[in-house]
Amino acid sequence: MSFTITEQAPARLNRSELAVPGSNARFLEKAAAGDADVVFLDLEDAVAPNDKEQARKNIIAALNDLDWRGKTVSVRINGLDTHYMYRDVVDVVEQAGEHLDLIMIPKVGVASDVYALDMLVGQIEAAKGLKKKIGFELIIETALGMANIHDIAAASRRNESLHFGVADYAASTKARTTNIGGPNAEYGVLTDPDVAGGRDFHWGDMWHYAIARMVVAARANGLRPVDGPFGDISDADGYKAQAMRAAVLGCEGKWAIHPSQTALANHLFSPSSEEIDKAKRILAAMEQAQKEGKGAVTLDGKLIDIASIKQAEVVVRKAEQVKG
Ligand code: GLV
Ligand code: MG
Repeated sequence: MSFTITEQAPARLNRSELAVPGSNARFLEKAAAGDADVVFLDLEDAVAPNDKEQARKNIIAALNDLDWRGKTVSVRINGLDTHYMYRDVVDVVEQAGEHLDLIMIPKVGVASDVYALDMLVGQIEAAKGLKKKIGFELIIETALGMANIHDIAAASRRNESLHFGVADYAASTKARTTNIGGPNAEYGVLTDPDVAGGRDFHWGDMWHYAIARMVVAARANGLRPVDGPFGDISDADGYKAQAMRAAVLGCEGKWAIHPSQTALANHLFSPSSEEIDKAKRILAAMEQAQKEGKGAVTLDGKLIDIASIKQAEVVVRKAEQVKG
């Protein structure tokens, strides 16, 4: 271990993160009654400019009046490059800050974007005497943000999670896709022409680098990495495959941009009973090994060692968190 200890963000379940447009009061009510671990009430891109003011009012009312049943509740404010942002923060935190857990900051480009918000939120919390410190969720969705991701992740003690905003990221990097998330048939490799059976074309995952980089930046700073939207809401299999790729790389969860995606995320980002059993068997085998003075043993024909304990503990701890 390094001599540097990474402080961990508050432990919250973040398997599903449901996006709800603040302009639709009925959707806000449904979200409060639903099963998402985290709900973010959107003031940004799902809300048209003419609806921004009403959406703010709806969100303030929803925070104050609805029963969120223990969920984590966040508000996605508008970007720092808009004139909506300051009023989003001032109105929502002043009028409903005690019911707000997190603020989601879109299109973060540099660490000082976070610093500016930290200052503003800190002043409002102090003026209002708010007891609970509001945390930050940061969307990495521009080339600038991805380039500066490590500084951004370390920019504030309010930071809790990094999110991969694939749609804006694709636009910012000028990626040749108009889908929101998921694989792209144009991004693939041809297999060797000399292998038996002839050439084959395999799709690749064009988001691998971005998600893997986000996971590293988040974990190095004790934050939760969370995968963003998957636009084809009629393709449950596509959603599951994308979510599983993100989970395998270390993400804690994924956005749901339709309530039907919430249950998929909750399921996929919870360890399965097989994974939990295997992790427990590894822990038991390593306990026995250590009693016998051994650092490594075989289990089911595979080598396990002290690092395996840490891997297994990740699974067991997550299972305990899910159980509540
Ligand atoms: C989310 O905000 C995205 O742009 O994908
Ligand atoms: Mg976006």
